[in-house]
Amino acid sequence: MSDRRSIKNSGITLLLASILTIGFTTIGFSGAVSAATDDLIEKGQYMVWAGGCIGCHTDVKNKKPELAGGLALKTPFGIFYSPNITPDKETGIGNWSDEDFLNAFRQGLNPAGEHYYPVFPYPTYTKMRDADILAIKAYLFSLKPVRSVVKDHDVQPPFGMRFLQGFWKAMNFTPGEFQDTTGKSAEWNRGAYLVEAVGHCGECHTPRSELGALDHSMALAGTVKGPDGGLVPNITPHPKTGIGEWTEDDIIELLKNGMKPDYDDVQGGMEEAVIFGLKYLKDADLKAMAVYLLSLDPIDNLIEKPKK
Ligand code: HEC
Ligand code: HEC
Repeated sequence: MSDRRSIKNSGITLLLASILTIGFTTIGFSGAVSAATDDLIEKGQYMVWAGGCIGCHTDVKNKKPELAGGLALKTPFGIFYSPNITPDKETGIGNWSDEDFLNAFRQGLNPAGEHYYPVFPYPTYTKMRDADILAIKAYLFSLKPVRSVVKDHDVQPPFGMRFLQGFWKAMNFTPGEFQDTTGKSAEWNRGAYLVEAVGHCGECHTPRSELGALDHSMALAGTVKGPDGGLVPNITPHPKTGIGEWTEDDIIELLKNGMKPDYDDVQGGMEEAVIFGLKYLKDADLKAMAVYLLSLDPIDNLIEKPKK
């Protein structure tokens, strides 16, 4: 309410100023600004879809409210419970400032300055643009606050010690926003941003070291040790071991409807990525991702169940 009033006031000031100079150009100014706020929330919701936040931050099986946390995420290092990211002031993130939010995504730090575990994919989200991160915050803060206390992580020592994450970070984390590549089309750069930053496809499709760091030399080339212990396919355009034989439309169809060219449905983490967000993305964005994926250097990496 007070926001609106101050916007209106500045509108009026500007209006007066413009009457004195060129006349009626700023009529409707305050209306345009409140619409921009709705736009921001809408943009934030879109980024939440693209970023797969709902799948991790919602305990669907136990019928818990959306984004209220509590989902158990099993990893080789222990079980993590996703936090409540609704704007509840006590049990959620209702007291967070813009800076707190940016620090979490860009630096992997909580408001007390402690390190997050990389099971929150901040090592990838660090590439997101500030404007998109703040749009996500605007969207989350437009939701109904849900009171939801989440269990403590059940992580074995030494991994259970948050401060030790500092060493992990020093070795494995490079903060920094995504940069467009000059000489590439706007479509390609949009696809790159969606795949490499927001969509965090590599968090599942890129193999990891023993310490859980992504092996960037094998980016998107698949792994037999996916997040839920399953196989994650090679999505570089290698004709035999990757998706080199797929068309742009095949990829769009998979991201939108979860269907592979052989009419098989995707399962597991990919099914969730589609259901909780990718399917809502604009066709132009899905196409941009397809264009980007098919432009990558093919990596020959056959992903199949280890022979017994
Ligand atoms: C792969 C699962 C996963 C995904 C995807 C994910 N998160 Fe999280 N997130 C977590 C976990 C687990 C934590 C807690 C990490 C910790 O305690 O160190 C976390 C922490 C957070 C926090 C800090 C909360 C607090 O109370 O300190 C915020 C905010 C957050 N996530 C927002 C998001 C948003 C927004 C997205 C989508 C863009 C997202 N997350 C995607 C798993 C995930
Ligand atoms: C939570 C983990 C996870 C995330 C995040 C994820 N994927 Fe997947 N993806 C998978 C798994 C697991 C499969 C295999 C599913 C199956 O075969 O049923 C898969 C399958 C695919 C396939 C089909 C490949 C094939 O050969 O069948 C494509 C294409 C794909 N993913 C693209 C993407 C893109 C693009 C993104 C980012 C926007 C993404 N994935 C994000 C886990 C993930």
